[in-house]
Amino acid sequence: MKKIIILSGAGVSAESGIATFRDADGLWEGHDVMEVASPQGFENNPTLVLDFYNQRRAQLHTVEPNEAHYCIAALERNYEVHVITQNVDDLHERAGSTNVLHLHGELLKARSTSNPNYIVDWTDDITVADSCPEGSQMRPHIVWFGEEVPAMETAIELTAQADAVIIVGTSLQVYPAAGLMHYAPQETPIYLIDPRPNLKSNGNLTVIEENASTGVRKACDMIHLSLTNT
Ligand code: APR
Repeated sequence: MKKIIILSGAGVSAESGIATFRDADGLWEGHDVMEVASPQGFENNPTLVLDFYNQRRAQLHTVEPNEAHYCIAALERNYEVHVITQNVDDLHERAGSTNVLHLHGELLKARSTSNPNYIVDWTDDITVADSCPEGSQMRPHIVWFGEEVPAMETAIELTAQADAVIIVGTSLQVYPAAGLMHYAPQETPIYLIDPRPNLKSNGNLTVIEENASTGVRKACDMIHLSLTNT
């Protein structure tokens, strides 16, 4: 079965009503990234950081997947699909995708600050009163700036075997995730979907200047054409 890799960022959830990070009125506009999304920020003011993620987790219960998430999930009918996402929402899963790798963690999980292997599902607020069985403070299961991206090795292995890649809704500003596309095999077609792309079509890269819900559908049609003709 042909293998398709999806590399998604905040833009794939924009039409579901979740703010991106770097667009106008994006998440980082109102916040100092290092204050709300770094280990130092958490040490300095755990309540501020916990509240930042509590607000985003609460919003998750009010939004739905959009056409782009459903279109990506439907690809699984004909291909082996791996979604490698920088997003911490669960919209890919709720749309039906079954292989989702979260490079930057998951809003709906929490972990112990002393035992990184103690990771539990968490749908409500995390407060400074919440501790793990060993008595250590619980924190969002999110990869903060300056922290390792544990899933990167798996992501590279998957991308190196791709027969087609869709990149959707990411400004490609944050490494190592932004470098993932370069691990795809030389001839593998890559489709990049973004209403304000910062790359141009070139060689095996096709840029689709559309919102995710429209652009992903177009990319899927192009993939069907290219993979059934090979
Ligand atoms: N459809 C598709 N793409 C969109 C849409 C849309 N409706 N709306 C905006 N975009 C695009 C923007 O043009 C931009 O290129 O989505 C991208 C969002 O970029 P960022 O806000 O930088 O989000 P992302 O690339 O996911 O950020 C990567 O940075 O702050 C960290 O950990 C955080 O995972 C995040 C990482």
